[in-house]
Amino acid sequence: MRCIAQPAPAPTLPGDDAAVPAVALRGFRPSDVGTISSIVAEALHEHYDPSLYGSLSTEWPAGFLVAADARGAPVGFLLGVSQVPGEARVLMFAVEQGVRRSGVGSLLMDAFLDRCRLRGFRRVTLEVRVSNVNAIRFYTRYRYSVIDLLRSYYSDGENGYHMACEL
Ligand SMILES: CC(C)(COP(=O)(O)OP(=O)(O)OC[C@H]1O[C@@H](n2cnc3c(N)ncnc32)[C@H](O)[C@@H]1OP(=O)(O)O)[C@@H](O)C(=O)NCCC(=O)NCCS
Repeated sequence: MRCIAQPAPAPTLPGDDAAVPAVALRGFRPSDVGTISSIVAEALHEHYDPSLYGSLSTEWPAGFLVAADARGAPVGFLLGVSQVPGEARVLMFAVEQGVRRSGVGSLLMDAFLDRCRLRGFRRVTLEVRVSNVNAIRFYTRYRYSVIDLLRSYYSDGENGYHMACEL
């Protein structure tokens, strides 16, 4: 490869559009692993040991945000960690294919950046495949900019961009 909130008291609507799914942001729960693994497999083409999600969330639980549908099932998530003092890193970020482009990703990123600011972080970094134009467009909208080219960063040899957002 190479964050925890209390359950929201009420569903949070990302917009007024009737087509926007009603989702609530909450923290990661062990019972989310199956659904999150499926989202990761489809969206990121990765298969991680199920125990990875819980272990990555232990140091900064609030950095693992889950967007859940009305039944409580995850439809997207953002897993952020803090490995460098004063910085957060987006380790995994994905929204279920059927609900993309309806504001769920923005809901997750807005909440994550708020948590980073609350914690006093100055910068958020991430890595993205150079071919992932949709995600790069998303990140650019959030004022992430490319700070480095990561040659052969991914296991299939593709280059990556190291991007950063100054808070
Ligand atoms: C990247 C991702 C998480 C964004 O989530 P999302 O819920 O689709 O994002 P939003 O609906 O909040 O989109 C916000 C803005 O990002 C940009 N954007 C997002 N997806 C886009 C797409 N497919 N094409 C063009 N622009 C896109 C647009 O500017 C969009 O605003 P608009 O719809 O008003 O034009 C989602 O596309 C995804 O899961 N992709 C596959 C996994 C992935 O690539 N993760 C990132 C790995 S580094």
